[in-house]
Amino acid sequence: MLIKKKSDIPSSEITPQETYFNRREFMIGAAAAAAIATGARYVGEMASPSQVVHAENKLNVASKSPFSTTEAQTPYNDITNYNNYYEFGTDKYSPAKLAQTLQTRPWTVEVDGLVKKKKTYDIDYFLKTFSIEERIYRLRCVEGWSMVIPWDGFPLSSFLKQVEPASKAKFVKFTTKYDPREMPGQRYGVLDWPYVEGLRLDEAMNPLAILAVGLYGGELPKQDGAPIRLVVPWKYGFKSIKSIVKISLVDKQPPTTWNMAAPNEYGFYSNVNPNVDHPRWSQKKERRIGEFFKRDTLMFNGYGDQVASLYNGMDLKKYF
Ligand code: MTE
Repeated sequence: MLIKKKSDIPSSEITPQETYFNRREFMIGAAAAAAIATGARYVGEMASPSQVVHAENKLNVASKSPFSTTEAQTPYNDITNYNNYYEFGTDKYSPAKLAQTLQTRPWTVEVDGLVKKKKTYDIDYFLKTFSIEERIYRLRCVEGWSMVIPWDGFPLSSFLKQVEPASKAKFVKFTTKYDPREMPGQRYGVLDWPYVEGLRLDEAMNPLAILAVGLYGGELPKQDGAPIRLVVPWKYGFKSIKSIVKISLVDKQPPTTWNMAAPNEYGFYSNVNPNVDHPRWSQKKERRIGEFFKRDTLMFNGYGDQVASLYNGMDLKKYF
């Protein structure tokens, strides 16, 4: 698998990893004055002063989570330059460039359906209400590659508890922003837009499922799903829907984009499962980005202890 070299991407279009660490120092606060005092080097690396203020205000310093893996983390440059985000192109390298047109402020998330608190929430609500944890998770893409990503986010369950699902609610449906002016891929019929995904309510309430608002201690880059995306580490990566504008509580299994596109290839559940092949390839092995040799894919991506009980008695070959 080819990874685009940094030199192939104009430097103006990537925010270097160091910048995020610098921003983290800003968030911590103590280093802010020092960074400004050191002058050009730091100032030159910042994307823009407003972004720094923004991160300082909105992304609290992440606390560590016991759910994190201790495996080596995938470099920031790979996480932010090798993306699936069809709204910004069908190849892995376009989103890092094309997603920069996405307007992530102002941003709201509408909550509707079978829920007590139907409401439209400003992105600031999430950042102010929930304490942000670092969760280092494996992400296994259905195509056979994987990464280890230090997300910053909060449990989806914390938010769902706040909005109070009605007893009839059985599933959660998520919807990505639809705006073909900002998302050029939506001008083409390659998928049904907007991108939608879904979870069973008990899956959504599992403590591993998070809404991510950052990675590597800084704001979520646009190509990774800013300003808020789902992360469900025991499922193939395509379940982790990006740039969410709507969360609906529903009583029936909702349609999902990849299932609509190719129902025999992508099921609703999409749990990582080395024993269920994709019709066109095996799912037994994966290549960790940055490694040469393939490794075995683990059942539920290695999160079986936490999630296997959700599927007791289910035939996972049928409900793939
Ligand atoms: N969300 C939207 N809205 N559009 C997409 O095309 N691609 C999915 C998922 N979420 C996608 C999306 C797929 S196929 C994967 S593997 C992950 O995002 C990739 O996330 P990453 O770029 O942060 O690694």
